[in-house]
Amino acid sequence: MPATHAEPRFVQCHHEDPQASRAELLRGLTAPTAVTSPKFLYDRLGSKLFDAITELDEYYPTRTEAAIFRDHAVQMAAAIGPVGSLIDLGAGNCAKASSLFGALQPARYLAVDISVDFLREALDRVAREFPQIEVVGIGQDFSSSLALPPELVSGRPVFFYPGSSIGNFTPQQALQFLGGLHQQASGGGLLIGVDLVKAASVLEPAYDDALGVTAAFNLNLLLHLNRLIGSDFEPRQWRHIACYNAEQSRIEMHLEARRELVVRWPGGSRRFDAGERIHTENSYKYSIDGFATLLADAGFAKSSHWTDEDGQFAVFWAAA
Ligand code: AVI
Repeated sequence: MPATHAEPRFVQCHHEDPQASRAELLRGLTAPTAVTSPKFLYDRLGSKLFDAITELDEYYPTRTEAAIFRDHAVQMAAAIGPVGSLIDLGAGNCAKASSLFGALQPARYLAVDISVDFLREALDRVAREFPQIEVVGIGQDFSSSLALPPELVSGRPVFFYPGSSIGNFTPQQALQFLGGLHQQASGGGLLIGVDLVKAASVLEPAYDDALGVTAAFNLNLLLHLNRLIGSDFEPRQWRHIACYNAEQSRIEMHLEARRELVVRWPGGSRRFDAGERIHTENSYKYSIDGFATLLADAGFAKSSHWTDEDGQFAVFWAAA
């Protein structure tokens, strides 16, 4: 008899708070150096533009990480051991996690993303393709902290945080976030993708590609802000900047005013000089030792890692 699959379950834990987003954005936009959280890069179009970025020749992280998973899946599975619940943080289309199902054989797959609506199609497919795995979609904004309903996690928990998204936190935020994961990973651990420090000549084109896809991703933030706070940003008045800050080991993305201009929103405005910037994203790059130390500081007992031949990217397994 063919295996029949149970329907995926969906639990929405997070609800947008437009007032809180607005207050956060206005605080950032009126600060001496204007700044916005990278989470605002991901409206519907922003998410599609990010998917397009992952296909660019210049953007090495996605394909390099996929190759590490492909080449080392067996060793990873041996290091990780039995998986009760595989908890995929920022699951999106669930492709990265499902590529590891054969090796890891989780009993339950918990896909976490900001909205369960992003997960429905992908999880229906996962449930059909892997009828032996119990599938749950969880809508939660874990950008500041993660608090999973404990009843949803069964068996040994293994957190999965690929894509080097940890790099979009400051090291201090990353330490706090990893500490929170460590507390919830008792008896299991964390499988995490980390982008490594490398030459600016490789990093800068990865964040400023020839086709201008990353520029569109960054500029699209302004259209998202217009919808969120009712501002009148005009993307044509701004320029995408991506530069490597070697001292801080991070790629910085900014939007730079092409000329002096004023941006208005209900109840306020801000003048930008020509060349003045809004800091829109940091993407921190780590050394192997630096990230191993961060994991240890967050409480993980021991870690191992796998890299590609050129040492561009690393996948760490950290036992809780
Ligand atoms: C999602 N995150 C890991 C990407 C990165 O590389 O920091 C976001 C990104 N920004 C510009 N290109 C890609």
